[in-house]
Amino acid sequence: MILCSCNVLSDREIQSALASGGRRSVGGLFRSLGCEAKCGRCARSIAAAIEGCSNAADACSDACQSCSAEERAAA
Ligand code: FES
Repeated sequence: MILCSCNVLSDREIQSALASGGRRSVGGLFRSLGCEAKCGRCARSIAAAIEGCSNAADACSDACQSCSAEERAAA
């Protein structure tokens, strides 16, 4: 699913970038993917993905969609 239509970023691309760590802001995530925010409509969705990933570090659960099942199992 595309989360950022301006940059054509899918949820999987964003999850993969988050899984590699060190990008805990929307701007930082965009920079890590070589792009930048344009219209900003995706900001809430991307912030939610970041928050979900942060929460997963403390307590991974199947309810969190930020990481794949394999990534959760390895955490
Ligand atoms: S939808 Fe992401 S910047 Fe426009």
